[in-house]
Amino acid sequence: MQHSALINVMIAAARKAARTLKRDFGEVEHLQVSVKGPANFVTAADRKAEETLRAELSKARPGYSFLGEESGRHEGTDTTHTWIVDPLDGTTNFLHGIPQFAISIGLERGDAIVAAVIYNPITDELFTAERGKGAFVNDKRLRVAARKRMADSVIACGLPHLGRGDLDLGLRELGAVQDKVAGLRRFGAAALDLAFVAAGRLDGYWERNLSPWDMAAGILIVREAGGFITDIDGGEAMFGKKNIVAGNETIHRELRTLLKGAGGA
Ligand code: IPD
Ligand code: CA
Ligand code: CA
Repeated sequence: MQHSALINVMIAAARKAARTLKRDFGEVEHLQVSVKGPANFVTAADRKAEETLRAELSKARPGYSFLGEESGRHEGTDTTHTWIVDPLDGTTNFLHGIPQFAISIGLERGDAIVAAVIYNPITDELFTAERGKGAFVNDKRLRVAARKRMADSVIACGLPHLGRGDLDLGLRELGAVQDKVAGLRRFGAAALDLAFVAAGRLDGYWERNLSPWDMAAGILIVREAGGFITDIDGGEAMFGKKNIVAGNETIHRELRTLLKGAGGA
């Protein structure tokens, strides 16, 4: 299909970084059985991927600013445009040889995300969106699921884990949602959770303690697939509050009601 020049730049950068990530993922499977394990190796893979993405994106759009998980913020001459990049979303999966991870690139213009690419190098699924132009996986148009009943819905979430997040709140929220739905999932790559909501594979998703690079591209892809996506209070402050809830209009509302009922701020 015909992509815009902008999306083509983003796809080319993602594919280039993906080549080395994919090779490194193969290597991780060997390191898994070594005494030291693959942890340091993965940290290096992560950094390398971000360097490639930054080099490719800034070659194509020299003035744009850049915010990456590994290298932080780099102010460009054009501060209205910022690439928001996670070079490897789903690091724990990658580290354990689980092929659920992705490169995520969002382009922010002013306060809005206007272009997005999420790419899983292992499944070769490429999710793209541009504001006002719809969302796609490879060449197929995306649409969020139409299910209206929580009882029929499969919902994904993120869970607090060692050293991260409010365990009590996490358990209360799980308790509130768990017995209302057909199934809960915890896949471990926020960008792909959002892409899966856009693709109608998941009916809804929520998570706390996220960073802008986990969410930026996915926010646009869900919206362009006709989905609703806000912070848990129903506002636009996903980056500020670091939390997110997504689904079609009905599931988004019901999920939000359940989460608020669990008492989270
Ligand atoms: C993580 C993943 C995971 C989510 C974490 C994120 P990373 O990103 O998206 O699903 O639960 O909160 O930090 O560290 O793998 O890039
Ligand atoms: Ca991430
Ligand atoms: Ca990451």
